[in-house]
Amino acid sequence: MLKVTDISKTFFKGTTNEKKALSHLSLTLNDGDFCTVIGSNGAGKSTLLNSIAGAYIPDSGTIEINGHDVTKVSEYKRAKYIGRVFQDPLKGTAAGMQVEENLIIASRRGESRRLRWAFSSGDHEKFRDMVARLGLGLEDRLSTRIGLLSGGQRQALTLLMATLKKPDILLLDEPTAALDPKTAGKVLKITDEIVHEQHLTTLMITHNMRDALKYGNRLIMMNSGTIIADYSPEEKQKLTIDDLLKKFEETSGAMSDRVLLG
Ligand SMILES: Nc1ncnc2c1ncn2[C@@H]1O[C@H](COP(=O)(O)OP(=O)(O)O)[C@@H](O)[C@H]1O
Ligand SMILES: [Mg+2]
Repeated sequence: MLKVTDISKTFFKGTTNEKKALSHLSLTLNDGDFCTVIGSNGAGKSTLLNSIAGAYIPDSGTIEINGHDVTKVSEYKRAKYIGRVFQDPLKGTAAGMQVEENLIIASRRGESRRLRWAFSSGDHEKFRDMVARLGLGLEDRLSTRIGLLSGGQRQALTLLMATLKKPDILLLDEPTAALDPKTAGKVLKITDEIVHEQHLTTLMITHNMRDALKYGNRLIMMNSGTIIADYSPEEKQKLTIDDLLKKFEETSGAMSDRVLLG
């Protein structure tokens, strides 16, 4: 369970560049909730995910993961409990290392450094099966350096790595924004499967309203650092793109084309 209570975050406080990124935001996700997040550019979506991950410490408010107050726990210590996929395919994997080496590291998350590189018998087969399932032709490329893969292959691998050891929370920040539509669809489908199989508590930012409606059981809309709509599973089932557009217009007046058409 994720419980965010009344968090606020202002960047460059007291300077001419002051940016209020989060303002008294609260959000509770139950175990297994898959919540999509929409909102115009600068709404604070990434700052919310970054605060949950510990990249930024909020100025006020608290963040609890499975009953533990992690508000001030370092990003490094929190990483054990959190799986992340970023918008940038270059960010989640180590380019100079082989596919299999990346998977090994992910599968040893939270274990001592000494053991991190040790292959166990069966690892190779296990990894082969895992990447085969992605349907992206990676099963014969386990010893390929990550840097040689496509963006879609890298994002799918990042997702595998983020979920190899079941995370308490999975955070996805526009994971398919840099991919072509066909590959994006594949990666989203795999994401959806893994989230359901592992019953993962998930937050996924997307600029595509259709995807926001299609995936997950919850949906929140953000504007000016706060949540302006929080749809329950029952409400989300009936929700349409028209409803979302109306809500956007009510609150922000205008909306970027990216959000409209994405
Ligand atoms: N590291 C940072 N330093 C300064 N300002 C930031 C930083 N991260 C985000 N912001 C500002 O906070 C606001 C919210 O940004 P962000 O959370 O990235 O929005 P979104 O992901 O919804 O587009 C924006 O005004 C942005 O410029
Ligand atoms: Mg963002």
